Amino acid sequence: MCGIVGYIGEREAQNILVAELKRLEYRGYDSAGIVTLSDSATPTLLRTKGKVAALEELVGQHKTSDTVGIGHTRWATHGEPSKRNAHPHHVGEIYLVHNGIIENYQDLKTMLSGHEYEFKSDTDSEVLAALIDYLRRDSPDLLTAVTGALKMVVGAYGIAVLDTTNPEEIIVARQGSPLIIGVGDGETYIASDASALVGYTNQVVYLHDGEIGRCTRSGLELQTIESQKLDVKIEMLDMDMQAIQKQGFDHFLAKEIYEQPTSLAATLAGRVLPDQKYARLGGLNMSDDELRHVKHIIIVGCGTAYFAGVQASYFIEQLTDDVTISVEIASELRYRAFNVPEHSVAMIVSQSGETADTLACLNELKRRGVKCLGVVNAVGSTIARAVDGGVYLHVGAEISVASTKAFTSQVAALTIFGIMLANAKGTNPQFIDEFVQELAILPSEIQKVLDKQGAEIPSIARAYADYNHALYIGRDTLYPIAMEGALKLKEVSYIHAEAYAAGELKHGPIALIDDHFFEVCYIQDNWLYEKSQSNLIEMNTRGAHAIVITDTTKKVPGETVIRISTKLSHLTPLLFNVVSQLLAYHVAVKRGHDVDQPRNLAKSVTVE
Ligand code: F6R
Repeated sequence: MCGIVGYIGEREAQNILVAELKRLEYRGYDSAGIVTLSDSATPTLLRTKGKVAALEELVGQHKTSDTVGIGHTRWATHGEPSKRNAHPHHVGEIYLVHNGIIENYQDLKTMLSGHEYEFKSDTDSEVLAALIDYLRRDSPDLLTAVTGALKMVVGAYGIAVLDTTNPEEIIVARQGSPLIIGVGDGETYIASDASALVGYTNQVVYLHDGEIGRCTRSGLELQTIESQKLDVKIEMLDMDMQAIQKQGFDHFLAKEIYEQPTSLAATLAGRVLPDQKYARLGGLNMSDDELRHVKHIIIVGCGTAYFAGVQASYFIEQLTDDVTISVEIASELRYRAFNVPEHSVAMIVSQSGETADTLACLNELKRRGVKCLGVVNAVGSTIARAVDGGVYLHVGAEISVASTKAFTSQVAALTIFGIMLANAKGTNPQFIDEFVQELAILPSEIQKVLDKQGAEIPSIARAYADYNHALYIGRDTLYPIAMEGALKLKEVSYIHAEAYAAGELKHGPIALIDDHFFEVCYIQDNWLYEKSQSNLIEMNTRGAHAIVITDTTKKVPGETVIRISTKLSHLTPLLFNVVSQLLAYHVAVKRGHDVDQPRNLAKSVTVE
């Protein structure tokens, strides 16, 4: 959600900033801007509404050889997407880029207006720039002014700040919104997301909440908001160019759908042990004894991560006998007066590890003494650092805004946790073995779906791309897949899509069916087949245009039947989900949408 970049070194900053911003564009893409300072501290500010490509064009017309600068790509919170509201914001001597939200910006604005500050934008970020400028007047340096300003601020921020009187430094700070500093040879990089730094340096410093840094050509000096000096801990960045390139695919979404056999294999490597009929997650920091005592699991996530939790809860229920599970939408749970049952453990599911609502739940659950385990993809992310233990997905960078490969691996990781619980408790050895064997072959089963359905979905998508509504239905373990399928379709194709548990159809939604709708029905051969088939027939008699996704070889009465062939049983829903991903992707492409950067969305929601 918004991207921040910065550079100070010997090379031309504009090129580097624009290249870094392109990599972060998936974080927000409604406006973009950079400012650079010349050696004599003359600023060149370039901002534009729209995508980074528009900014790049502007830079082409205003080239400088400046070697220091900061930049931003925005996902609007306060103020409409416009040049006026784009970052960097300029007030007095200060240029600032900001991710996050300054909650008390109205109070600060009123105070600053009393000191003759006038505001050109509708943003909270400009108020922060003005506050820093105001304090700068009586401060010995920019670092002191920024520190003073941040002590007055309530909210979340990742910021990079330039002072036009001193082109030798960029001040950065973090509270609740990620920032990473890349340390090069005679140059220092700033980014809100590691993918911006790949290829420039692999030596990085992850800023923690409450830390303020001074970036110069020779590196980074770090201190707390209380001005206590800190050691700079450099870590190796484990991400390569391949991870952030499309590798021959037209879109990152397609690349990431097709990557699932390998990304899932990376999640499972060393964790699923079919010969031993066992699977384990190394980083949970839980003994068998602790696992045995678990009586309740609280799974927390947003969007696709939440649906992954719902999907896995069905599997964990099958594996265990005495464990109850509640799967919670983070933005709901955080304000609920919820009770925590005794012997609970929480699973915090987040691809980015930065989602604000999920993080808030994690903090609340920790405050209540619940052991919190992370199921996270982004290494070094806030949630990954804050949990008591956990598992990295290892699926590589997920650049497409719509999440696909993370979902499959989130479900797999949570299912392994279920296997560990069942094993520690000595329940259902038969199921444990079946799940382990299925997890082991899941990557190759997904590959089969990609090979076969990858070829047949484009023409099916063409036939359904002009509908305006879709109803996704599934029963039991296929219901979460229906919800995730509907989410995927709506976010990339903008077709109104709703999901229902198939048994709920008769309780209302069947009234919707008409020629404006198509229906996606998931039917599994060995699981509630007859009941699912009855729901389909009920819809057909009301004129449904049903696409049936199934593994059965029996005759199925659908307008279009997509048949997968698989050796799986428990995990078949994950194969059906790959079909839904392909369907959403091809429908969106057919409708001519920007599938990697759908309208109104951005990756990683770091604000409420
Ligand atoms: C949907 C999607 C979102 C995310 C959600 C949580 O395709 O990408 O619904 O799943 O914003 O994000 P993370 O997993 O980063 O916490």
